[in-house]
Amino acid sequence: MHHESTVDWWRSAVIYQVYLRSFADGNGDGTGDLAGLRAKLPYLRELGVDAIWVNPWYPSPLNDGGYDVADYFDIDPRFGTLDDVRRLVDEAHALGLRLLADLVPNHTSSEHAWFSAALAAAPGSRERDRYHFRDGRGPGGAEAPTDWRSNFGGSAWTRVPDGQWYLHLFDVTQPDLNWTNPDVLEYFHDVLRFWLDLGIDGFRVDVAHSLTKDMTFPDIVDHLPREQFAGDDDHPHWDRDDLHEIVRGWRRVLDEYDDRMMVAEAWVADHRRPLYVRHDEYHQAFDFGFLESEWSVDQLRGAITTGLGGTDLVGSPPTWVLSNHDVVRHATRYGLPLGTKWRKWPLDGPHDALDVAAGTRRARAAIVLMLALPGAAYLYQGEELGLHEVWDLPIDVIDDPVWTRSGHTEKGRDGCRVPLPWRRDGDSYGFGANGSWLPQPSWFAGLSAEAQDRDPMSVLSLYRATLAARRELLDADLGFEWLDRGPDAIAFRRGQVEVTVYFGHRSVPIEGSVLVASGPLPDGAVPTDTAVWTTA
Ligand code: GLC
Repeated sequence: MHHESTVDWWRSAVIYQVYLRSFADGNGDGTGDLAGLRAKLPYLRELGVDAIWVNPWYPSPLNDGGYDVADYFDIDPRFGTLDDVRRLVDEAHALGLRLLADLVPNHTSSEHAWFSAALAAAPGSRERDRYHFRDGRGPGGAEAPTDWRSNFGGSAWTRVPDGQWYLHLFDVTQPDLNWTNPDVLEYFHDVLRFWLDLGIDGFRVDVAHSLTKDMTFPDIVDHLPREQFAGDDDHPHWDRDDLHEIVRGWRRVLDEYDDRMMVAEAWVADHRRPLYVRHDEYHQAFDFGFLESEWSVDQLRGAITTGLGGTDLVGSPPTWVLSNHDVVRHATRYGLPLGTKWRKWPLDGPHDALDVAAGTRRARAAIVLMLALPGAAYLYQGEELGLHEVWDLPIDVIDDPVWTRSGHTEKGRDGCRVPLPWRRDGDSYGFGANGSWLPQPSWFAGLSAEAQDRDPMSVLSLYRATLAARRELLDADLGFEWLDRGPDAIAFRRGQVEVTVYFGHRSVPIEGSVLVASGPLPDGAVPTDTAVWTTA
């Protein structure tokens, strides 16, 4: 059975993110792979998602988990082969699941053939022009060309032996491409066509808010923190207006095919996000304002209002997400006191501030909320098991370049990338036959898919039930209307379904009959940190 060819299938799709390295290991080398993923397709089908997005699978030194691509036209041998992708596409489609790949256009790996050629070539050469090579400043050109900072910490420039410097907004092994160079433009059109021809349904596009750089804008006042950047084309390398022309070119390529889509990873100010989803650009852009909201009525209601408003502006669906491979898992974020800087918290603590039970309760409520909102939703592997962040990974296993580049001030993102627990016991809790590339904590046993499968109160059962209810009751074109259930509740109606999320300390009486509940409802009332769908 092939999925129905529906127009705009992505508008209300639920898409499951597979961090391939950590999903399931089919060949027993401790690293997840395509064989492992193929074996779990029935699990994803049963969960009830519409599509899968797979993090980068290309040949890569894995200095940044594969976001350092050495060859855009192949699969890393640790993950499998192009034939495995062909099988994956066929098997996923047969189950009615679509498949998105990850496109990494801002930078290549320093092991990409273009970068080796650039290093071997002279300053000013065509080879160097595919990247951003510049002479330095100061005596002997010994100072970096600009004060730009790497997103992972440290300068964004590294010097090569002949004295020039190259730009890398991320790790030193991720040189930024020069998007005014015609080779680069043409190359990525070929990359898109290659994967679309292979049967991929679309792309998640990495660092979609970068790409273009203004080299005439040499210094960002160094102390302007990124959070304060307003994003009105006043920055030399984030969210520049001239990047949209590139996106329109990609969209024209996608439109040569049926039913394909692309979603932007654009960390931009709320009022800039709609620009990315204009009719001839991306189909979706993650709403990180929702992800960045804490467990608070005001913050979440504000983020929902903003997300829905962006849609109205350009007619594109909002795209909700609570977790991904770059952030502390939301069960843990919601278990921390309001205002905690969660990027720093795994290292700095205080760790006894984490309320695991409250985090889990709120994460359960959050999914019942998110899956009721209009638009599309993305799930990150393991959230359906209620996994928390593994914040206490020992330093000697840390793999994320953030750890070194931040000068050991941030532990990085490995705590949400620990290989999944599939079984209560056995080698690596069923992840594979031979250990896992990051160590798993013993509490994974009780959260394994096996332990939750038949338990009606488990997080896994809640995800399955909520996704089934969404398919059945929440038609994509139902409207959205806020309801007033007092200052401690978020409440809205979509068609026959009324959604209430309660944050206060007294319980509120349930109105109508319950369709979905994120937790127990003692005495016919909704207690704190609980979400329900009801109908009159
Ligand atoms: C994106 C990815 C992240 C990666 C970075 C550089 O933010 O999600 O994992 O480190 O881009 O490619």
